[in-house]
Amino acid sequence: MYKFPTTLTSMYLAMQTWRSCGMAICFLRWFHISRLELEHIEKYPNAKLISLGIGDTTEPVPQIITSTMANYANALSTADGYTGYGPEQGHKALRKAIVKAFYKDLQIKDTEVFVSDGAQCDITRLQLLLGSKVTIAVQDPSFPAYIDSSVIIGQAGDLKGDGERYGSIEYMNCGPENNFFPDLATTPRADVIFFCSPNNPTGHAATRKQLELLVKFARDNGSIIIFDSAYSSYVQDDHCPRSIFEIPGSRQFAGFTGVRLGWTVVPDELLYSNGFPVIHDFNRIVCTCFNGASNVAQAGGLACLSSQGFKAVNSLVDYYMENANILGEALASVGLQVYGGANAPYIWVHFPGSISWDVCKDILEETHIITVPGSGFGPSGEGFLRLSAFGHRECILEAAARLKTLFL
Ligand SMILES: Cc1ncc(COP(=O)(O)O)c(C=O)c1O
Repeated sequence: MYKFPTTLTSMYLAMQTWRSCGMAICFLRWFHISRLELEHIEKYPNAKLISLGIGDTTEPVPQIITSTMANYANALSTADGYTGYGPEQGHKALRKAIVKAFYKDLQIKDTEVFVSDGAQCDITRLQLLLGSKVTIAVQDPSFPAYIDSSVIIGQAGDLKGDGERYGSIEYMNCGPENNFFPDLATTPRADVIFFCSPNNPTGHAATRKQLELLVKFARDNGSIIIFDSAYSSYVQDDHCPRSIFEIPGSRQFAGFTGVRLGWTVVPDELLYSNGFPVIHDFNRIVCTCFNGASNVAQAGGLACLSSQGFKAVNSLVDYYMENANILGEALASVGLQVYGGANAPYIWVHFPGSISWDVCKDILEETHIITVPGSGFGPSGEGFLRLSAFGHRECILEAAARLKTLFL
């Protein structure tokens, strides 16, 4: 096996998931929240519980996608329609369609696209590629899989005294005070920077200027950016790039949700400091540890990228963004400081000076609404709550009304 050098030349990988159909699960402290939910149901068996907790989509997958998958699955029972293993990197037609739909003018080649079973699995496979010797930096707060996979692979070091941070991970504070972008002047160099935009949990989408600064920082330091753009289709503001590859000097990594489909882009030019192309190692990891996404899911992915499928998926995005708008407006109208929700299906609400678990429990007790305490996403999430905009419209309207009554 190729031995990875500890110093890497700057590189950009990017990942994305189809948050608009299927199911998005954030593992973070999930069992704590589900325990809280179960205890609440036991205590109030007749209450109408509304979940704004786990980022779990609720609206049906468009028929054009499910019928294509059903047809593909039925054909597997016929001599002509049966398919065995496909290419580990994904079907050519899908890889080409991904490039056409998402990277048209960005010089991404279909051979740089690795179709996968979702971003979560790709994060861990990338960590396997990077190994235990690299140093990593994460946004604080951030999607927990970056830190959890870092712990599993052995990069994280020991938990510090406060029990909130790992000694070998650089936590880049991203809060309202710095427009959710790290102070790069004081950020130490790391081999790998995990960066998620639009961000889960804060809902902040980095501006072009912010991403330019990040890319420059990574290039100056010879760092890798692993850019998680799972929520890129929710970006409404054209000042916020949907892909890191829109920034000159960089090139990207991207998924379905419940159906489990995603993709990672590893640019050819991405090299280790000894000149060895990273794409060769990633290809080896994919062929060894994965063996390719389900053919049925890939058929659904291709249907998603047809003009009818794309339109249907985008109308789901619009639906969830309207939910975000309803929730954001309701909370702002009662004087709460609300962030996110404009370019991402998450609302990040500030409760200055409060313990986020206490606020989460109080809201549950008073309104029967599940939320996620910000502290579960990292130390800088303390004092915040994350609300998911995934939900049926009637539940979102009901939740908005209950929250307004509570905080008025
Ligand atoms: C930021 C982010 N990245 C990745 C994932 C995992 O995506 P997938 O369902 O494609 O594994 C999630 C899921 O919530 C997420 O929020």
